[in-house]
Amino acid sequence: MDLHQTYPALSDLRARARRRLPPFVWDYLDSATGSEATKHRNRSALDQIGFEPSILHGPFSPDLTAPLLGHDFPLPVGIAPVGMSGLIWERAELHLAQAAAHAGLPFCLSTVASRSPEDLAPHLGNHPWFQLYPPKDEGIRKDMLARARDAGFTGLILTVDVPVASRRERQTRSGLTSPPRLTPRLLAQVAMHPAWAWAMKGERDIHMRTLDKYSDLQANLPPTEHIGYLLRTSPDWDYLRWLRDHWQGHLIVKGVLKGADAARIEAEGADAIWVSNHAGRQFDAAPATISALPGVRAATSLPVLFDSGIEGGLDILRAMALGADFVFLGRGFHYALAALGPAGPAHLIDILTRDMAANMGQLGARDLKSLPPPFLLDAPVKM
Ligand SMILES: Cc1cc2nc3c(=O)[nH]c(=O)nc-3n(C[C@H](O)[C@H](O)[C@H](O)COP(=O)(O)O)c2cc1C
Repeated sequence: MDLHQTYPALSDLRARARRRLPPFVWDYLDSATGSEATKHRNRSALDQIGFEPSILHGPFSPDLTAPLLGHDFPLPVGIAPVGMSGLIWERAELHLAQAAAHAGLPFCLSTVASRSPEDLAPHLGNHPWFQLYPPKDEGIRKDMLARARDAGFTGLILTVDVPVASRRERQTRSGLTSPPRLTPRLLAQVAMHPAWAWAMKGERDIHMRTLDKYSDLQANLPPTEHIGYLLRTSPDWDYLRWLRDHWQGHLIVKGVLKGADAARIEAEGADAIWVSNHAGRQFDAAPATISALPGVRAATSLPVLFDSGIEGGLDILRAMALGADFVFLGRGFHYALAALGPAGPAHLIDILTRDMAANMGQLGARDLKSLPPPFLLDAPVKM
């Protein structure tokens, strides 16, 4: 079957994922916090970024390669860290790591993933990064860094936009607990979604395996207060300095929206800045990431990574034209997995590749350094 005939866009994968996932799993993946205005703002702000198409530029094959942190990548796309991916599809982290390795793209493993660095070590490609939710305890901190390094992770991502747990009301309403407990209501949902139930038949115990070593807490906490929150702290600038001193690989700070923060993070010795609002899952009055990007770009000479709301190749070009060096997707890769199983992530990479190439053809851009200047669509007409 030609997947491009049936699922030509990420929206097709999302629609199929929604049909196949029980609502409590769907809500975990798809929800944001509050009224979810920030999530929608990410999308509507991206839609406002326009380009003038080019004409009469003759035929060419665009070059999609992008340099980042000393490597040339075939595409400026990576897989963002997502906690508890294993709830969304069986062995999700393994499939994602393998898809990234196969495509030569970065893969990020969350501290609160359902697989540990050790589980993933045999499946990692050349660009695995470990995302750190910062443990309070210095001993645990050192141990996690050593485990990530020994498993082969070359980059460390410090996520800074979760100073406290967010409320994620839709997720709470869905009835999901941590660790997931199948109540009669959730079991009824599972029964109505046989594709997910069948895929998950071998997954008996979905939990945050990286943290097993540090706690045997079995409390049935509400969904936004899992064991990850019990171990972690809200990091400060001293914490960032400590990490810089103790991690020899690339250090990336994720969740930055202000230029002044980016400049200070650069001064502290980080290697890259990641513009993100966590897909609107943390704070419902945050700016759209595409609106925050130019200010961050102007404030730092470090590579700028970007996420939150990317749905296709055109969005990637919008972010690159506004100063991003690389783009990540979180939910998209999980929609792909839930829609098509292990074949999904590779198909999404293919969709993004084709979509970037088609739009670069419209723009007459032979490579990612030659994108024309973007402008705001629907801006008032100047007379
Ligand atoms: C279900 C879910 C879980 C997430 N878990 C984490 C996490 O553990 N650590 C982290 O830094 N970001 C986490 N994120 C945020 C993603 O890394 C990324 O910033 C976001 O998903 C990008 O937006 P997108 O989903 O629109 O592509 C999570 C996002 C989702 C949707």
